[in-house]
Amino acid sequence: MSATTREDRRTAGGTPGPRGGRVFGSMRDFQRDKLSFIQSLTRYGDVARYRMAHLTWYQVNHPDGVRRVLQENNRNYGKGSLTLGVFKPVLGEGLLTSEGGLWLRQRRLMQPVFHRRSVTAFGSLMTDETLAMLERWRPAVGSGTPLDVPAEMARLTLDIATGSLFHAHVGEETGAIARAVNVLVEDIGYRFEVPFYPPPSVPTPRNRRRQAALRTVDEAVYRIIAERRRGGGEEEDLLALLMGARDEATGEAMGDRQLRDEVITLFLAGHETTANVLSWAFHLISTHPEVEGRLLDEIEGVLGADGGRRTPTVEDVPKLAYTRMVVDETMRLYPPAWITNRQALAEDEILGHRIPAGAFVMVSPYVLHRHPDYWADPDAFDPERFAPGRAHGRPRFAYFPFGGGPRQCIGQSMALVEAQLVLATVLGRCRLRTVPGRPVEPEAFATLRPKGGLPMTVEAA
Ligand code: HEM
Repeated sequence: MSATTREDRRTAGGTPGPRGGRVFGSMRDFQRDKLSFIQSLTRYGDVARYRMAHLTWYQVNHPDGVRRVLQENNRNYGKGSLTLGVFKPVLGEGLLTSEGGLWLRQRRLMQPVFHRRSVTAFGSLMTDETLAMLERWRPAVGSGTPLDVPAEMARLTLDIATGSLFHAHVGEETGAIARAVNVLVEDIGYRFEVPFYPPPSVPTPRNRRRQAALRTVDEAVYRIIAERRRGGGEEEDLLALLMGARDEATGEAMGDRQLRDEVITLFLAGHETTANVLSWAFHLISTHPEVEGRLLDEIEGVLGADGGRRTPTVEDVPKLAYTRMVVDETMRLYPPAWITNRQALAEDEILGHRIPAGAFVMVSPYVLHRHPDYWADPDAFDPERFAPGRAHGRPRFAYFPFGGGPRQCIGQSMALVEAQLVLATVLGRCRLRTVPGRPVEPEAFATLRPKGGLPMTVEAA
């Protein structure tokens, strides 16, 4: 459809977009098929304007516009009342939800904890948990009985998150935290999904479930923090690094409440996103034999042929270059964080479009990653796009699975190392096969996940 059909409108500011229904605007179209809806908005040009009930949204479809929001003029774009309304009751003032001076202080404090050097300390935890998962898979190998891959990956990444945060406490207590975190992740997804929900104080079954999960998490995390404060602090996990972090200017450490908020934030921000990348990667690898062949050659070259195959370490990660290209291309097609929302604090102009103060602004890696102006044959899976030198000339914000600007993902290195190590460990030992005849489509929930699960069978390598 062209940008001038009857359905469209041009506003006083000149920004075109769909007219939508009289009361709810485009909410129905968005809810019906979110990915198609946001992709369809590219036909209006660099910025599209639409309404969801009483709220006006601007979707930015050009890399320079994304740069304006996330980087150049990022101070003008807050996380916004909608995002914070869903996240804050769970995450408090953690890194994902805090703003202004508190965010800046915490980001400076926490940045060193996530330097590649520190992250490498968790390499063996990542491969140990992967090997434990492969043990659990043993009865399924060669049986033809499919595994529910997203559930397997969610358990794996949650085990890795738990181990990296509370190394010495893995067991009964962290099992309870992990289960509660799952309830919270599902609940956050639900709240983004529905247009209206009763406030937390109303005792609906859902609210009660969420409150119970929050209590479990709070009690356990505060107890672990208290034990650490009493103990000698020999542990070398993320919690220990966070407790040891000191503000450069004041020398201050984090208090218990802040530590709790950061710990829950890291749990929630890190595990489902990484699990989804892995699920999609296994599906894409199994449906692209030539990619699988190259991956296996690389893994064999780095880790040794059958029989003498060793478990990869973080030292191997730079050598697993093709594996990294596969991860990058997987996140191009299926970016786990498929949209990022902001709210304009003051009026701004994006690529000639007036953005009024208070407007909601949305940028979507899913849309930019499949935009034909920046990617040839955008729906095709082709890891070669990420071969050295191939990114030359591609705008920075044509690809931003980890966001950008000051609020870029702090866990990026950790997620990439984890994805490479898990893929190399699994593919060194077995092959996953997508069950034929069953459509595999993305579902835009809180993260981008395979709709209705992703059953895959396992074969020995
Ligand atoms: C493939 C996996 C991951 C993806 C795709 C991803 C994506 C993102 C994106 C897009 C943002 C920016 C959000 C915004 O601008 O509003 C973000 C922020 C964040 N991520 Fe990740 N993430 C991943 C893994 C992780 C991991 C493993 C951790 C921690 C261990 C983590 C912790 C965080 C935190 C704390 C923030 C907030 C940073 C800030 O605002 O200063 N993420 N992530």
